[in-house]
Amino acid sequence: MAWTKERLESIARTRLGAAKLIVVSNREPYIHRKTPGGGVECIRPAGGLTTALDPVMQACGGVWVAHGSGNADRQTADQYGQIGVPPGDPSYLLRRVWLTPEDEAGYYYGFSNGSLWPLCHQVYCRPSFSPEHWEAYQRVNEQFASVVLEEAGSGPAVVFVQDYHFALLPSLLKAARPDLVVAQFWHIPWPNPETFRVCPWASEILRGMLGNDLLSFHTQHHCNNFLETVDRTLECRLDREHFGVTSGGRHCQVRPHPISVDPELSTTYLGDDWEQRATALRERHGLGDRPVLVGVDRVDYTKGIPERLAAVNRLLVRHPEWKGRFHFVQVGAPSRTDLSEYRDLNTRIAELTDTINQEHGTPDWKPIVFLNEHHGPEQVTLLYRMAAGCVVSCLHDGMNLVAKEFVASRSDEAGVLVLSQFTGASRELTDAVLVNPFDVNELADGMLSALTMPAEEQRRRMRKMRKQVEDNNIYRWAGMLLSDVAKLVDEPDPESEPELEEMSSFNEMSGMIASATAMSLLQLMGAS
Ligand code: G6P
Repeated sequence: MAWTKERLESIARTRLGAAKLIVVSNREPYIHRKTPGGGVECIRPAGGLTTALDPVMQACGGVWVAHGSGNADRQTADQYGQIGVPPGDPSYLLRRVWLTPEDEAGYYYGFSNGSLWPLCHQVYCRPSFSPEHWEAYQRVNEQFASVVLEEAGSGPAVVFVQDYHFALLPSLLKAARPDLVVAQFWHIPWPNPETFRVCPWASEILRGMLGNDLLSFHTQHHCNNFLETVDRTLECRLDREHFGVTSGGRHCQVRPHPISVDPELSTTYLGDDWEQRATALRERHGLGDRPVLVGVDRVDYTKGIPERLAAVNRLLVRHPEWKGRFHFVQVGAPSRTDLSEYRDLNTRIAELTDTINQEHGTPDWKPIVFLNEHHGPEQVTLLYRMAAGCVVSCLHDGMNLVAKEFVASRSDEAGVLVLSQFTGASRELTDAVLVNPFDVNELADGMLSALTMPAEEQRRRMRKMRKQVEDNNIYRWAGMLLSDVAKLVDEPDPESEPELEEMSSFNEMSGMIASATAMSLLQLMGAS
């Protein structure tokens, strides 16, 4: 049975019972920004987390607690920092948390993105550890804990914490309200114990995360790394057979759940006029009718963007017959620009683009077009759809949703995905052209395959990948996570669960108590 928004809605109703769903993340799904003309615009941020979670929240309802980072966020929210979203057709509540510039600098730029981000990604960028950043990180985790507790009120709630910005939040919540059900999804990789050990606050972070009832990563490999790290760092009992940790009398289950996208959304984003928009875009950037390879990323050193440009250069050196015959369009949304590593990378990509364009370009043809600004989902989906191929060359990535979005947008069953073998997505999208982004020849060959692959082979590969993404969509991800939370009290698997209507008639017939799922969840929350 297919996973749809409606099915997730039903699962959420039965699984959550009377409990309120509270999602917590640093990044908010809708940002309000002042425009130069004195107005206000609402933008959707770049990055997989918000893209993936927004449809889930639209299906389940509830409250999403996040940092209010836009300069028009206060004026668009009410006195409690709350605003109904999506704008125009609200289906859930966004509760914005206001951070001081000092806390944002220490907690977000400093500890989250200067310490934990490079620590968890194996891309040879040295993490920095500052006691001041760590203090800000603790402070902001406490601030979010008090906002979540306020939103939970005194009733039952399931709190679904997102990512590395909130390693301490689960145990803070449990200490205040042991009856809350707390689950966390860690959207980035977890490194091996030797790598993680260098963090001066390794034990505190692990103890914070063990406050979860359920802790989830994209892959089993990351779960194993986490369990090994706990084993080498803390005194606790590891259950290797069922993947869990018992410490301080509490149990935390550790499970993989590969995240995904809502494949239907691409049709909405494309609209009926996409071909006209594609023609206009080709004119605007001088693309003619030549094939286009695309890359869509935040400008981040984990994404392998310079490696990708070096591979375009390599392709043109080894195959000069391709000069003047294709373009590489790189969307690079500026990201975390308060950090010098990110600013420097942006400059380096712009310089590399110029150098390669000068080396190989002509007055009427530039091999690389670098679009160094934020692009909304409509623009990005248009690029996916008009491309001969999409290049995802991350040096390390927990999942990578660009790969899945590209596949979802190709209902024409054409186009080639060139995908780094160091992404979580490469475990699922095995029909992509898999490459090692550190190997410039291999990456250049991958791009060449995208330009030359026969239509029939494209179709064969794309069909399989589309089936993968359709079957394992974002609703399945959320449904399985909810079910895992419920399974902590011996819940049935929703994959093998009868339709909800069938279930109630079966319950009536057999005289069983109806709605066992909701009851068990209430028991789990201690609300007997
Ligand atoms: C990654 C992280 C997310 C983050 C996103 C965008 O996907 O796992 O937590 O939201 O990058 O980064 P930003 O720092 O702009 O939120």
